[in-house]
Amino acid sequence: MRLSVIGCGYLGAVHAAAMASIGHEVVGIDVDENKIASLSKGEAPFFEPGLPEILAEGIASGRLRFTTDMSEARGAQIHFVGVGTPQQRDGYAADLTYVNAAIDGLLPYLAAGDVVAGKSTVPVGTAAGLAPRVAETGATLVWNPEFLREGWAVQDTVDPDRLVVGIPAGDAGEEAADLLREVYHPSVAKGTPFIVTDLATAELVKVSANAFLATKISFINAMAEIAEVTGADVTTLADAIGHDVRIGRRFLGAGIGFGGGCLPKDIRAFSARAEELGRGESVAFLREIDAINLRRRDRAVDLAVAALDGQVFEKKITLLGAAFKPHSDDIRDSPALDVAVRLRGLGASVTVTDPAAIENARRVHPQLTYVTDRDEALADADVVIVVTEWDEYRRQMSPEHVSSLTTGRIVIDGRNCLDAAAWRAAGWTYFGMGRP
Ligand code: UGA
Repeated sequence: MRLSVIGCGYLGAVHAAAMASIGHEVVGIDVDENKIASLSKGEAPFFEPGLPEILAEGIASGRLRFTTDMSEARGAQIHFVGVGTPQQRDGYAADLTYVNAAIDGLLPYLAAGDVVAGKSTVPVGTAAGLAPRVAETGATLVWNPEFLREGWAVQDTVDPDRLVVGIPAGDAGEEAADLLREVYHPSVAKGTPFIVTDLATAELVKVSANAFLATKISFINAMAEIAEVTGADVTTLADAIGHDVRIGRRFLGAGIGFGGGCLPKDIRAFSARAEELGRGESVAFLREIDAINLRRRDRAVDLAVAALDGQVFEKKITLLGAAFKPHSDDIRDSPALDVAVRLRGLGASVTVTDPAAIENARRVHPQLTYVTDRDEALADADVVIVVTEWDEYRRQMSPEHVSSLTTGRIVIDGRNCLDAAAWRAAGWTYFGMGRP
């Protein structure tokens, strides 16, 4: 099928390349000329494992191309819209400027029978508001939310755990759902759940999934806070409750909390939308989820200050990690960098290292010192803090080796990912999050 993908960020670029990889003819469109130039050369403008390979393959096959020219969307049967919906500057609500601009830009090139499939995360009710503009052209607007995780985006797009399509009532909606079944034929053929519903439900599925994941993380972080005043160990607690299949162990990783371009802004936008709908109290708990999450960053800072007996000034603190999670160079709302900036604000000499995110971090926080080489970053450190659980720190770093580099012997495990016993045995004072 011929497809267009409007917006070539973390979502759209992966979607375009993944759709080409399963045999479709795809044009990716974005207003950012630099992004389009690098994608056209087969270079991923951000770190995403597996993306460079399918980009190169798609371009070489002739099935995948990128442009800044919206008119090239003409002729595609389905137009996916995957532009960003960031948090508004002056509030919690989502900023829909890019979604509106993408739809408006696309309208002149739509033909009767085309399908516009929104993938961006939007407040419930957005699609219903946009649908009449699209319907005037004879095309149909559906909502097809995306559940990919950064770092696993290619796999999640090619082989998702479910597909959700919100359609308007009537024949055009049913026909649009059939077209999407055809687009996702390899997943449909292998029996991946394909849920067809109304527009509002599809929009809500997306935000409620992220709200649930955020709640799970903040739940275990709240237990970490209780563990901290009782001497309990939250990691053992998580293992124990996680054996109950109704609870499950995944996303019960206590630490410095969630960040990134999705969970934090999505729960805030959901709160804002619920307020608008007169149902603010239904998701009032999300404010608490946000507050618990942000407190964990304070906790990491407090641990460092206490470990140094309050003498932070000019102490060398090395932060291992900058990205909001491993396998990503994304630093949007990164807990790691928040901790780094706060410690620097207290007068510490902060050095940050990360396998992928240094360039992005430097652009936003030029005041921090960045060192690419992990061991060089660790040299002479008084305190070491693990803030992103890359394998380079979790698996490939022995406490004995780190002892040969640092001045101090204080390690703060902001992701509860180190072997506490091994670090203590090597002479380190180990602090976990919610662990004795
Ligand atoms: C999240 C969702 O997991 C995806 O399903 C969704 O499609 C995506 O948002 C989106 O809306 O686009 P992502 O932002 O890539 O994906 O990151 P996650 O893997 O969900 O991690 C989010 C944050 O939670 C990270 O900072 C991570 O370190 C933290 N986290 C995760 C924990 O603190 N503890 C855990 O147990 C798990």
